[in-house]
Amino acid sequence: MLLCVLLPFVGKAASAAELQVTSPTGEVSVYQTDELLSHPEAREITVAGDEGYGRDMTYRAVPVAALIGDAATVEGEMGLEVIALDGFVANIPLPLVLLDGQDETAQAWIAIEPEDAPWPNLPGKEVSAGPFSMVWVDGAASNIRSEQWPYQVAKIGYAAFPAARWPQLALGEEAPEDAKRGQAVFIDQCFACHRMNGAGITELGPDLNLPMSPVDYFKPDALFMLIRDPATVRHWPDMQMHGFTTDQLSDAEIRDVIAYLQAMAGRKDE
Ligand code: HEC
Repeated sequence: MLLCVLLPFVGKAASAAELQVTSPTGEVSVYQTDELLSHPEAREITVAGDEGYGRDMTYRAVPVAALIGDAATVEGEMGLEVIALDGFVANIPLPLVLLDGQDETAQAWIAIEPEDAPWPNLPGKEVSAGPFSMVWVDGAASNIRSEQWPYQVAKIGYAAFPAARWPQLALGEEAPEDAKRGQAVFIDQCFACHRMNGAGITELGPDLNLPMSPVDYFKPDALFMLIRDPATVRHWPDMQMHGFTTDQLSDAEIRDVIAYLQAMAGRKDE
């Protein structure tokens, strides 16, 4: 299904790139690269420590807030659902997107890859971060996490926070504290590529509870190593999970995520 939708992007040159944005009222706008480059709010920005490229980058970009309609009209715990060409799905809490640099907070931008000046390939990949990449100026000021930098963005829309949208992600009240912390880490750092108990819309990686939980088929040390750096456990040319540096995910956070997986292993499909 998803493949059929995405194939037109894959087949065409960068010049045909389109970004689909759905407003809070459900109105769909499709922007071409040129329209975004000449958008009245487009600017040259410098992104220190760009997550995708692992270095400072300069882009022509439009503030996310200028593209997503009147976000102030949205009620409840909502996020921006940002879907990439490869099926990566980030859900970024709306308050983060709307910080707008006030009080030295992060600012979210959509960087636009110009047709006549393509970006370099991402480290270790055969593709660039284009045609559109969501990047942050001063991301560290608001603790923006590594998986909140979606690149190769195809679509942006609104969706409720995952924990509110999918009850089967939830832990019982009686769950241990480390598992509760782990749920939050899972939603920020894993859910973009992994479904959980059937919840989620990504198609990139396996569901991490159904039919079996990795805690039931990996030894604890191996599971820890696999989350830190999958290539230390097994590797092959097309592997897509990149692993995490200790800045992106601390040892304690990995232990918390494993506690969450452990707790969910006893709550299959609820
Ligand atoms: C960028 C996407 C991505 C992110 C982010 C990601 N994974 Fe993965 N993961 C994958 C893919 C894809 C696979 C399948 C193997 C591969 O291609 O690398 C995988 C495999 C795994 C496996 C092995 C499953 C098996 O049965 O072999 C585990 C366990 C796992 N991931 C846990 C996690 C956890 C926990 C997190 C968050 C801390 C996480 N992953 C974040 C993409 C991702």
